[in-house]
Amino acid sequence: MEKQHYTGLIDRYRDFLPIAPDTPAITLCEGDTPLIELKRLPREWGTDCRILAKFEGLNPTGSFKDRGMTVAVTRASEEGSRAIICASTGNTSASAAAYATRAGMECFVLIPEGNVALGKLAQAIMHGATILQIKGNFDDGMRLVREVGEEMPVAIVNSINPYRLQGQKTIAYETVGALGDAPDYHCLPVGNAGNISAHWIGYSELAGLESSVTETCESSLASCSIDVPKQVDKRPVMVGYQASGSAPFLRGEWVEKPETRATAIRIGHPQSWDYAWMAHRESGGWFDECTDEEILDMQRQLASREGVFCEPASAVSVAGVMRDIRSGKIENGSVVVCTLTGHGLKDPSVVEDVKLESVEPTLANIKDVIGSKLGV
Ligand code: F0G
Repeated sequence: MEKQHYTGLIDRYRDFLPIAPDTPAITLCEGDTPLIELKRLPREWGTDCRILAKFEGLNPTGSFKDRGMTVAVTRASEEGSRAIICASTGNTSASAAAYATRAGMECFVLIPEGNVALGKLAQAIMHGATILQIKGNFDDGMRLVREVGEEMPVAIVNSINPYRLQGQKTIAYETVGALGDAPDYHCLPVGNAGNISAHWIGYSELAGLESSVTETCESSLASCSIDVPKQVDKRPVMVGYQASGSAPFLRGEWVEKPETRATAIRIGHPQSWDYAWMAHRESGGWFDECTDEEILDMQRQLASREGVFCEPASAVSVAGVMRDIRSGKIENGSVVVCTLTGHGLKDPSVVEDVKLESVEPTLANIKDVIGSKLGV
């Protein structure tokens, strides 16, 4: 019997995406990522909340960006664009470069000098993107991309492109598919704020409820009429966590010189500012911030105690959840989903301080180490 293999999220969710039935998908089989239940950390915190990690690091280029990129690049290709462009803290550029290659398009990426993790840079280089490293930050790059989009024949694939959010809303679809319901809380890192907005679009559609984000986003999509059958009765509370040095949602205004070791979310001028506030208001959620120390500590705990290696920016979601569970803001017994947005392998610099010592290759040396570790 012929087995149907998974061919990506456009094929799976085409009826719920602004993609015509006969449009060929530009895909790398993104999506369908695991929802991994955390076991040891919740027990250590003494909570009976169920905490599940939607591990987006297992997408083809190692982050959730692939979900948005397959839709944005499929549309750009259909519309006859020869080239795409984005500003990026790294992951968007890696994803754009890969999907442009799939589509046979040119890809231009603007990245902030000195603040992109090595793995992400390697991806953009290997996929053949033209890299414009700027003496500025992500926000400067974003401003330039908006300007150049007006003057040159390039399609912008940052999340100001509404097709990106349409693709990323499938995180909510898959979460509901796996749980059979919406979680009580959905927690995630917030940088440019497209992803929290996209999650909210997805959850609102599945609950058959109006959301200002969906309305505004759909009104900017030409010929998009999507009728998603109602599947759940509730939407989650949306919680967005930021790094303390880059926390415009906590300050209530844009931050001019964002700083954080979690470079993926080193953003001071979030483009989806209004959408994220809508999701915050309509879901009854909140924003909070974690220090770089808390973020890196949680990244290490997830890797060493749960076996899940995510990048620093992703870990902010679980660092924030730990605090909110301990304070009782998230009640005992809740079902909490955290989006772990990117893979830890992207940023090997987190272990640069670890110095490995070499030993002579003798059996005695190896037995010594194992013996002392195991106490035998
Ligand atoms: N986590 C990771 C790993 C990211 O790469 C990003 C954004 C976010 C979280 C925040 O998502 O912007 O939708 O609020 N990275 C973008 C980039 C900005 O260029 O790769 P957001």
